[in-house]
Order: sequence, then structure tokens, then C-alpha cells
Amino acid sequence: MSKVATAEVQTPSISEDLAEIVEGLLLPQKTISPKFFYDDIGSKLFDDICELPEYYPTRTELAIMRDNIDEIVELIGPRASLIEFGSGSSLKTRTLLAHLRELAVYVPVDISREHLQLAASGIKTDFPEIEVLPVAADFTQQFRLPNPKVMPLRNIVYFPGSTIGNFSVDAALELLKVMHHEAGKGGAMLIGVDLQKDVRILEEAYNDAAGVTAEFNLNVLRRINNEFGSDFDLQLFEHRAIYDYAHGRIEMYLDSLCEQTVSLAGETIQFEQGEAILTEHSHKYTMDGFATMAKTAGFEIKKVWVDAERLFSVQYCERS
Ligand code: AVI
Repeated sequence: MSKVATAEVQTPSISEDLAEIVEGLLLPQKTISPKFFYDDIGSKLFDDICELPEYYPTRTELAIMRDNIDEIVELIGPRASLIEFGSGSSLKTRTLLAHLRELAVYVPVDISREHLQLAASGIKTDFPEIEVLPVAADFTQQFRLPNPKVMPLRNIVYFPGSTIGNFSVDAALELLKVMHHEAGKGGAMLIGVDLQKDVRILEEAYNDAAGVTAEFNLNVLRRINNEFGSDFDLQLFEHRAIYDYAHGRIEMYLDSLCEQTVSLAGETIQFEQGEAILTEHSHKYTMDGFATMAKTAGFEIKKVWVDAERLFSVQYCERS
């Protein structure tokens, strides 16, 4: 695989992660941020989720990209800088990279240095003609873009996968503002946004029959045990995912099956039987709801592509 140098911006230390996990578990609604899902096992499990028959987002978004790639390429235009929020290992990214005209540079941005390095090397191997300049950074904060060899005509921020849905509405708005900043003058954003739909389709996508999502959810406890020496007993917690109509989101929990205590970093965390740890929100948007948020962040929606069943959308938004 081709090696690529990674620009380093500050990423959180292990002790900051531990402090955040402890703080979350001491809240009245015990919480673990979904960002902690993605250790090596969690990332592998997420890849498996994307292949599940019930998990419609990945294949639907990819199909939308493939069906509309000529129009997407036309809107982006030649000599763009493609700035992906995330490490960029997906087929969707490869579809874009294979079609964009005279791409100036590809800049994947991710907090996990290792994931980023691996994904960027894979892209460089498959697309040797493209300059790949990865940036290891927390993309929820503004970061400095690297200087490519070719001067780009415009910046395109790419955020696939409806990962925007994993942010609270306030945090999603702040993230869109960061994207607006990084897109710069004349820039645009291409984003995957999951849509509100029949609750059965949604709940099945997050409660798959093979139990992969349950394993993915529980793995966060295994990770915390491995990395921070806690003593969560994975047999004593159960995965649950439900759709909350009022907030338009899937909520994922780990329910304690009994009264128990867990030790973590010198703290004793008490669980009642049935008490839940909130591990993820996955917001599903209406077209109007997303358009309003994008507008508040300074974007105008120029084009929206959806599949025939209107499960998922890919949206092209320019700075207004
Ligand atoms: C990464 N993210 C968009 C996924 C989602 O659908 O919210 C994470 C996921 N959680 C359970 N299944 C998939």
C-alpha cells in the first residue's frame, strides 16, 4: 500500500477519553458517546452492519450516488478539493473519486490517526494520480486545510453515511457551521441524510435478526474494559433500539439486566435492574427539517437525490 503523510492537529488524549466516559456514566441518564464504538472490533462490526439486509442506509446511499454520479460530478465541477469529514474508506468515496474531473486534492479528516492512515493509503494505492493529504483532527472544530500542489477551484465538503444523524440537533448545526467554514468562499457540501420513514423499517434496521447491532452496541463495554480496566459483565447488559417519534430519532441503549455495580477509574457505578445506558441517537430528518438547519448554517440546498422509496437522501448544498 502507498504511504501518505498525515497532518496532525490536536486529538484527545486517553485520559480525556476516560474522563468523558466516567462523566457520562455518572449522569442521571447514564451515557456513553457513540464515538467510543469504533475500536478495531467496533469498526469491523459496523462494516458488518452495513451489509445487513435490514440496514438500508449504506446500500441505498451507494445506489443514489451511482445512479446520479454524472449530475453530481457536473455540479462539483473540475479541479475541486474534496474534503471528507471521516476517514473515507467507503465505496461511496471511491465512486466519487473515480468520476470527479481533475480532482485537485482529496483530504480525509478523522480523529483516529490509525484509521485515517490505513484508509488514506488504500485510496492512494487505488488512485495513484490523486494527491491525498489526510488530516488527523476532530472535525467538530475548525481545522487548517493542507496546501495541495494544485490550486483547487473550490472546496467540496463530503459527509456521507448520515453520520450527521448521530449528532444532537444543536451539535449538528454547529458541525454544519464548521463545514460551511471549511468549504470556504464558493464552496459546497455533499451530504448523506437519512429520512423519516415507517417505524418498522427503522427499528428493524437497528435490531437486526442476526444480532450484529447488539454485538456492536455491547462491544463498547468490552472496549472500555480493555482500555480502562473496568469490569462490565457483558452478559448482564442487553441491547435495545427504539424510535422516538417526538425527536425523530432511533435511540440505542444498553439495559442492565439486574441490580449491579461496575468499577471504573476508582468510581463505583451503580445500576438498578432495567436502568439503561444511552449509547447512540440516530436522527432521521424530514426534507424541510434538514433544509432549515442547513440554511441556518449558511447553506442553500441546490439539489436533493433520493431513492424510489424515499428512504435516504444525498444533498448538494452551496454556501449562500
Ligand atoms: C454511523 N452511523 C450513521 C450509524 C447510524 O445508523 O446511526 C451507526 C449505527 N448504529 C447502529 N447501527 C448503525
